[in-house]
Formats: sequence, C-alpha cells, structure tokens
Amino acid sequence: MLKKIDHIGIAVHSIATARIFYEQALGLHCERIEEVPSQQVRTAFFSLGETKIELLEPLGEDGPIAKFLQRQGEGVHHIAYTCDNAAAQLEKAEQAGCQLINRTPMTGAGGKQIGFLHPKSTHGVLTELCSAELSSAP
Ligand code: CO
Repeated sequence: MLKKIDHIGIAVHSIATARIFYEQALGLHCERIEEVPSQQVRTAFFSLGETKIELLEPLGEDGPIAKFLQRQGEGVHHIAYTCDNAAAQLEKAEQAGCQLINRTPMTGAGGKQIGFLHPKSTHGVLTELCSAELSSAP
C-alpha cells in the first residue's frame, strides 16, 4: 500500500550549483549528499515536511541520469512513493499491466529498497516505489 510521496527526483548537471537555488532562493536545508555507484549518481536530499527533494547528479557519462540530461536537460526526473513493501508493490503494478524497469527491488540511497515503473505505462512519469527495509518476498 502506498503511504505518501517520499521524494521528487530532479536531474541536475551539478549539485554544487543547483543546491544554491534550493538553499538560497527556497530556504531548504540539504540533509545529506550520498553517492549511489550502482546508479552512477550522486544524490542530495532536501527535506520539506514529509517529502524530500532529491537532486540527482550523474557520475560519469553512461548512467541513467547522464542519459536523461543528454536527452532532455535538467528537470523533474521521477516521483517516488513510499510503500510498506516495494517488492509487493512492484508485483501488484505488474499484475495491473504496468511495465516494470525493475522486477525486484534494488538498494537505493539511504539503504531503501527501490524499484521503477516504466514511464510508458505511467503516462510519462518515471515512478519509483520505495520501502524502508528489505521486503520479504511477496
Ligand atoms: Co528517487
């Protein structure tokens, strides 16, 4: 079951440059910066109530964020929903006819279990499902 919007992912060329807007123009506080080598990305999280803004900067030229930036430039990259069990939620989406990018969750920033639904079957929005802990098999 979905609980809330966990974060909105925004692709940027440089966290060092983009964070100036979030900190100075919006007054948000950067909680942490974390590299996720498996996704070839560096992330920066800004808290806003129960939701976070996740800036995504590419590490290298080949990862998904690097490709996104080459294709369409900076901007909203994905929306992430917190659910109680990412594995079960992915399976539920698949049963509903949704095309998955990840059939089983992988470990993302903050050690969360995350999986993505393909924008082709979500009306154009890359959708991330995440849960806090390792989910048991659905
Ligand atoms: Co995310």
